Amino acid sequence: MKMLSLIGIGSGNPQQITLEAIEALNQTDVFFLLDKGPLKEDLLHMRQEILERYIQAPGYRLVQVEDPLRDGGAGGYVDSVEDWHRMRARLFARLIEHELGDGQTGAFLIWGDPSLYDSTLRILERVEALGLDFEYRVIPGISSVQALAARHRIPLNRIGEPIRIMPGRCLAGEAQASIDNLVVMLDAHCGFAALTDEDLEIYWGAYLGTADEILIAGRLQAVKAQILEVREAARLRKGWIMDTYLLRRPLASR
Ligand SMILES: C[S@@+](CC[C@H](N)C(=O)[O-])C[C@H]1O[C@@H](n2cnc3c(N)ncnc32)[C@H](O)[C@@H]1O
Repeated sequence: MKMLSLIGIGSGNPQQITLEAIEALNQTDVFFLLDKGPLKEDLLHMRQEILERYIQAPGYRLVQVEDPLRDGGAGGYVDSVEDWHRMRARLFARLIEHELGDGQTGAFLIWGDPSLYDSTLRILERVEALGLDFEYRVIPGISSVQALAARHRIPLNRIGEPIRIMPGRCLAGEAQASIDNLVVMLDAHCGFAALTDEDLEIYWGAYLGTADEILIAGRLQAVKAQILEVREAARLRKGWIMDTYLLRRPLASR
């Protein structure tokens, strides 16, 4: 039987990797590295650093493949993601069939935690549906949301309150009055900049856990211009950016 491990490697800090993940790294025969776009080189470097640091007896193979690009989607967001997942499923099936021997273990190094805005699990379900015979397991990792809360020294929820997590593209459809304890990820268009609510506070973090980490917190209306400026300068300097933020209103304003 072929085995696959989806190993959560944290969201930038190689020290935020669990003992379970280190054990799984050491049990892996073949690592599949899939990246694309401007982050590709940096993410590859960070993953290689993790392998060099934690694998005691390097005898593994690296299989590096170009992740298929997602079409901008004339058919809409959901259709374009569906197409992209189909392409990735075919690619994963090829990797499992041709790059992994019977009795061997392959691994995908998943940024942050595999359960949060990562499609690998959904794609493996599709690969199973194609009829391939393999088993897989999931090793959790520290997500960027946990890293954000830790670096700002805040709890994600206040006593008895819910929290929500959403991608930036959903923020525009959100009534501003209902925004509280809201974590926003994948926000390439800085949705926070369009919010006008005077009460909202923001806890923002970019490149969390890395040497380039940037943290800004305060009243949204007071710091949003600063975040936009700092964010754009960092994005131009590095060629890519990953940022996450929490929006919350102070208890006194409710
Ligand atoms: C495709 S999602 C992957 C999330 C990942 N599975 C996790 O658990 O954090 C990518 C988004 O995660 C957030 N992110 C990931 N790493 C980050 C980091 N080091 N600093 C800030 N945000 C990060 C950003 O919002 C980015 O757009």
